[in-house]
Amino acid sequence: MSSQDDLQTLVLTTLDKQGVIEDTTYLKTADGSAVDQLAVLGALNSLRSKDMVDYKSIEREVWTLTEEGRELAESGSHEARVFDAVPAGAEGITIPDLQAKLGKSASIGQGKAFKNKWINKQPPNILVRIVDSIVDQTKIDLQQLQSTGTLSDAKLLADYKKRKLADKQKLFAYSVSKGPEFSLEIKKEATDVTYEMLQSGEWKNATFKKYNFDAVGVAPSGGALHPLMKVRQEFREIFFEMGFQEMPTNRFVESSFWNFDALFQPQQHPARDAHDTFFIKDPATTDRFPKDLMERIKVVHENGGDTGSIGYNYHWKQEEAEKLILRTHTTAVSSYMLYKLAQETKESGFRPAKYFSIDRVFRNESVDATHLAEFHQIEGVIADKNLSLADLIGFMDVFFKKMGMDKIRFKPTYNPYTEPSMEIFSWHDGLKTWVEIGNSGMFRPEMLLPLGLPPDVRVIAWGLGLERPTMVKYGISNIRDLLGHKVNLALIHDNAVPRLDKKMGKELIGINLEQPAEESTKEKVSAAVQGLVNKVENMVVN
Ligand code: PHE
Repeated sequence: MSSQDDLQTLVLTTLDKQGVIEDTTYLKTADGSAVDQLAVLGALNSLRSKDMVDYKSIEREVWTLTEEGRELAESGSHEARVFDAVPAGAEGITIPDLQAKLGKSASIGQGKAFKNKWINKQPPNILVRIVDSIVDQTKIDLQQLQSTGTLSDAKLLADYKKRKLADKQKLFAYSVSKGPEFSLEIKKEATDVTYEMLQSGEWKNATFKKYNFDAVGVAPSGGALHPLMKVRQEFREIFFEMGFQEMPTNRFVESSFWNFDALFQPQQHPARDAHDTFFIKDPATTDRFPKDLMERIKVVHENGGDTGSIGYNYHWKQEEAEKLILRTHTTAVSSYMLYKLAQETKESGFRPAKYFSIDRVFRNESVDATHLAEFHQIEGVIADKNLSLADLIGFMDVFFKKMGMDKIRFKPTYNPYTEPSMEIFSWHDGLKTWVEIGNSGMFRPEMLLPLGLPPDVRVIAWGLGLERPTMVKYGISNIRDLLGHKVNLALIHDNAVPRLDKKMGKELIGINLEQPAEESTKEKVSAAVQGLVNKVENMVVN
């Protein structure tokens, strides 16, 4: 009898006959053989989960023979084998002969045979019997232990254990009683409510398998999130909380058109050089961008068109815009999304928009401890009528406060597509200095008007890196430990979920904490920043 079903039936019929099963050790199958207690346990657990039975475990200690013990119980002890091998009479046997006859038993058994005064040594080195017959007590003891599971003499048990002939073991058995749902018939249990059950009404009478909330779940074999993706999620939540919509960033390969031209970046700009940008070889170009938009952009680059600007005063070439590249910033996506917004505006009127993206960008840079040829940008864009620089500054204040940075200042800078443009600095308490955390600005009319946005729509935007806060958060000092083929997979598997709390903000701007800037540098930076900040403040006031 081995099948679970048979065992369950045996338990149920026995209970039906006897009311209880005191001890499953004595449970016998129809053919009179004993049952395996581990299998009994399986059957009992299954029946108990249906409330058909209840049980308690009974634990007992029994002595069992080791393999050697079993062999001796069957064919006699080593000492008895020695006695048997020594012939009766005076001629005896030499030790080498005994050795040849008995092998291992010769050396193990001799000592005990001497001690039992069964044999003696006669010169020159001959073993002879000194009794006529012997009783092999070891064999008798082992056989008794084998059949009863113990011996009355505890010292003897300890001795056999020491000789590695016997050992103590715990045995489990069970005492079983009927449960509230006891029945001779095992009902099939449903595991789920199915569509068919609902339709037929069968669910009303069905018995459902109980959930086992104590079951140990299967350890997931994969699916750990990379630290960058965890921190990205934290930033995404800040954006969502503030009503932003996520931009589609799945185009790693982008045309120069959306990455540069649509952003009023002149075609001879150094960033378009192969030293800074990865160009795609095959296919090397695309002309899949709106041609009417292209015409407007061409004019603005060449002479400003009707934007009020004089443009860059050069001959704009379509071939240059067609070059495929790995996008160098997510602002390529922003320009495309603003174009879409302008299209929508033409159809259904302008609606203010708040967009964000967090994804990979690529730059042809030499790799070192803090730079890789690819990294992640966090980018935010707000489009609304009559926005001003004050809105940008005010918004930056709120945004960075959400990450725990409450002292924010700005320094004028240059981007081809924004005017004014501002680098964003945050005060670092530990370093007692201002640390750069991002770049921002108001998109230029030369960029927005060709896209087709109404003239009174202003767009403010900003960008920052994702790697820096992640490295600080996870205590990683070399970027190559975070991204690329040298990354230790255990780091990704074991790291905790981050929280962008107040501390996170402090950490974000404190990547240099381990190497504090020299006093003179710090003073110089603060003084310079202060001057520039004053300038920006004046700009805002005027
Ligand atoms: N694209 C800029 C960069 O790569 C960041 C930026 C985004 C600046 C939007 C201004 C406005 O650094």
